[in-house]
Amino acid sequence: MRSTKDIQSEILRLKKENDVCILAHAYQTQDIHEVADFIGDSFALSKKAAEAPQKTILMCGVRFMAETAKILSPDKKVILSHPEAGCPMAEQLTASELAELKKQYPQSAVVAYINTTSALKTECDVCVTSASALEAVKKIPQKEILFIPDCNLGSWLAKQIPEKTFHFIKGGCPVHMQISPEDVLKARKKHPDALLLVHPECKSEVTEQADYAGSTTGIIHFAENSDAKEFIIGTDNSIVQHLQFAHPDKKFYPLAKCCVCDDMRLTTLVDVYNCVNGTGGEEIILSDAVMTKARRSIDAMLS
Ligand code: 13P
Ligand code: SF4
Repeated sequence: MRSTKDIQSEILRLKKENDVCILAHAYQTQDIHEVADFIGDSFALSKKAAEAPQKTILMCGVRFMAETAKILSPDKKVILSHPEAGCPMAEQLTASELAELKKQYPQSAVVAYINTTSALKTECDVCVTSASALEAVKKIPQKEILFIPDCNLGSWLAKQIPEKTFHFIKGGCPVHMQISPEDVLKARKKHPDALLLVHPECKSEVTEQADYAGSTTGIIHFAENSDAKEFIIGTDNSIVQHLQFAHPDKKFYPLAKCCVCDDMRLTTLVDVYNCVNGTGGEEIILSDAVMTKARRSIDAMLS
């Protein structure tokens, strides 16, 4: 029987031999993080995907992240770590529904959260992540913004950019939306000295009560750099575990036990092994037309 360490050593050998760069989202498990070339939120991963010198990129995360990597590196082979790992939010709006919305709000710049399909990215002006959205949207010349699909991230932005008018649809992350203001009440009562750090995909009734709201990496950096000793974490509970592992001198509590993204949990260390071995995952194939058109909105964010 092979141990975790044996599989990890094989992965490290094979990724070098086969010229593979392993990118892992922050929500992936510790054993995967340990073999990754880079760990980050979706903004940092898309930047790394564009810069990676290796011939193959293995994206340990969900489909929209692998598609973004492919759009930014069309000449590279990009593999999604588990073919079933999708983001339910990315499927909430179709290209024809977006075309209707654009007719309804013709003056608006269309801003798409990166958690969207490539087809939708071809029809928007700027693509944003939770880490880049504030800066990117402030720079858009239009006064009106049609923000798709996450209305919670959108409302969080709208509060910080009052000079613009936002239009939303009723989309959002089914995992973060489960967190309720009652969860905040309970957690604050149980841990009165803890700071509350949340992802802006949470409902505004939750985000409004937070001491900090930001991307997964933003939450990690805040906790690392803060003098506080206790934190309640309002995002996928893997972040609670990673922070506790890295900072045993501090205490981290989940805001809600239910905040677990099943899609992010699909990839295992054995999947990573199979991918670097050339027998697992799914190679991302997109048409040249989609890649060229979708890239404009991603470049707009990266620039
Ligand atoms: P980040 O940009 O913070 O990584 O968020 C991506 C995501 O899907 C969180 O649910
Ligand atoms: Fe999508 Fe939500 Fe999972 Fe992030 S946590 S990948 S937004 S379902």
